[in-house]
Amino acid sequence: MRASGNRLTREQARDLLARLDSAIAGSRGKASREAVARFLNTMVPSYTWVGIYAIDGADLVLDAWSGPSATEHTRIPIGKGVCGFAAKAGKTEIVSDVSKDPRYLQCFLSTKSEIVVPITKQGAVVGEIDIDGDQLDAFSSLDREFLEAVARKASSLWA
Ligand code: SME
Repeated sequence: MRASGNRLTREQARDLLARLDSAIAGSRGKASREAVARFLNTMVPSYTWVGIYAIDGADLVLDAWSGPSATEHTRIPIGKGVCGFAAKAGKTEIVSDVSKDPRYLQCFLSTKSEIVVPITKQGAVVGEIDIDGDQLDAFSSLDREFLEAVARKASSLWA
């Protein structure tokens, strides 16, 4: 599969991780999670839409997002969709072509690929970062590494 041209590079990933702390400094709770979503969406061209879901009982609830438009999937049962699957498994999911994944719940017609990274606190999944890309195969193992590091930082933004 051909890699998309605007993928994250290792150098950018290192730089962004160093800048994330100052992007969220001064905000707390939901506002800080909104700052993380905005930071990722605006700083990485391949991250077309960025959402942060929080666990609420047996569901994931959309807590913060940044992107061109709102999604209808503001509540997703754990176990459903790519998001619910990742939350249940507690593991990052990369879907390089959403049209080939039967789990996929469509939000935007333009989405071609997706990555979902759980956020854990003391071993339990408390939420996740969900990113849609409008190119096929937009996410690599570098995005996984980068976003898992972001998720570790984001876990401190949970009460
Ligand atoms: N595609 C996700 C649903 C959330 S939207 O991408 C914002 C899924 O399959 O779970």
